[in-house]
Amino acid sequence: MAAGLASCPACGIDVALAAVLLERQALSVIPAGPGTPFVGDAMLSRFGEFLMKQGYITAAQLDAALGRQRELAGAGVRETLGQVLLEMRVMTREQLELASVEQVQELQSALRSANVRLEQRVADRTRELEQAYRKLTELDQLKGNFISNVSHELRTPLTKIKGFNALLASGDLGALTVEQQQAVEVMGRGVSELERLVGDLIQFATGARGEMVLRPAVMPVAEALERAVAALRDRAASADVMLACHPPGPGVCLMADPEKVRWVLDQLLDNAIKFTPAGGRIEAGAEPSGGRVRIWVTDTGPGIAEDRLPELFEPFHQLDGSATRRRGGTGLGLALVKMIAAAHQGTVSVETRPGAGSRFVVDLPAAP
Ligand SMILES: Nc1ncnc2c1ncn2[C@@H]1O[C@H](COP(=O)(O)OP(=O)(O)OP(=O)(O)O)[C@@H](O)[C@H]1O
Ligand SMILES: [Mg+2]
Repeated sequence: MAAGLASCPACGIDVALAAVLLERQALSVIPAGPGTPFVGDAMLSRFGEFLMKQGYITAAQLDAALGRQRELAGAGVRETLGQVLLEMRVMTREQLELASVEQVQELQSALRSANVRLEQRVADRTRELEQAYRKLTELDQLKGNFISNVSHELRTPLTKIKGFNALLASGDLGALTVEQQQAVEVMGRGVSELERLVGDLIQFATGARGEMVLRPAVMPVAEALERAVAALRDRAASADVMLACHPPGPGVCLMADPEKVRWVLDQLLDNAIKFTPAGGRIEAGAEPSGGRVRIWVTDTGPGIAEDRLPELFEPFHQLDGSATRRRGGTGLGLALVKMIAAAHQGTVSVETRPGAGSRFVVDLPAAP
C-alpha cells in the first residue's frame, strides 16, 4: 500500500481499509440465491468501472470477474470483486490496494468539490437573506417614521376640532337647536375615537423606537381595576355581557406608570367586550404573587386557536379580518399591552382555547 497517501486527513481512517470495509458491507447484502439480482451491484460495478478507467483491467476481464463473483454468490460464497480479481490473477494485491486508495482519494476529492460548491451556495443564500433582512429593517423603520409623523400631524387639527366642538357643545358660540346639539355630541364622540386612535399610534411609534417614557409610582391595584371596570359598565350592559370585578385587598400595589396600567386594563376589557357575544361573562381581577401582581381579564368569547397565538401580540394583526372589521380597531391594542408590560419588566400572556373563552394575564412588579 502507498503509505502516507493512505489515511483520511479529516478522520485519520486508513482509506484502503475503508474501501474494503465498504465493499464488504455492500457484499453483505448480496443475496446468495442464484438468479437473484445483486443489490450491491451498482457499487461493485463502480469499483470495476474505476479499475477499467484507470487501466488496471479490461472490459472483458471485468465481465469475467463479475460473472465469477455471481457464480460464487450462487454457491453461497461471498467474495469482493477485488478478491475475485486476485484469485483470477488479473491484478496483484499491491495493484488492488493502490487502486482502492486511488478510488477513495477520487471520492474524497469529489466530496471536497461538492462541499466547496455547497459552502458557496450557503454563502450566496446568506448574503441574499442579509440583504432582504436589511431591506425589511429599512421598511420597518420607514413604517415607524410614517406612523409617527402622520399621527403627530393628525393631532394638531384634531385638537382644534375638539376645542371648537367643546365650545359649540357648551353654547359659548351661541344657542343650539336640539338637533344641532345632538349632531355636536355625535361629532364629539367621533373626535374622542379619533383621539384614542391617534394616541395609540403615537404610543406605538414611541414604544417601537424604544422611547416609551414611564412615570412609575406606587399605585393601588384595586382602585385602578374598579375604575376601569366601572368606565365600561354601560358598554358591557348594552352588549348584554355581564361584567364582574374581583379587586385585590387595598394593600396590593404596583410600582408602575398609572396612566399606562389604566390603558392596559382598558385594552384588555375593550377586547373582552368587543369579542364576547351577547349573554357572555367577563371577569377582571388581580392578585399578588411573590414580588409581582398578576392582573387578569377572562371572557367567555370565541377563544383563539393555538396556531394564531404567535401573531396575537404583533402590531396590526387582527385574527379574523371580517369579524374585526365589524367590531373595529386597528390591531394595535395587544401589541401596545406587550410593549407597556415589557417596559415595566413585566409580561403579558394568554390562556385560551377556541370556543372556551380567553384569559389574558399581565404580570407587573409589585410596589416594595
Ligand atoms: N378577548 C379576545 N377574544 C378573542 N379574540 C381576541 C381577544 N382579544 C384579542 N383578540 C384577537 O386579537 C386581535 C388583536 O387584538 P388587538 O387588541 O391587538 O387589536 P384589535 O382589538 O383588533 O384593535 P385595537 O385594539 O387596535 O382596537 C383581535 O383583532 C382579535 O382577533
Ligand atoms: Mg384591542
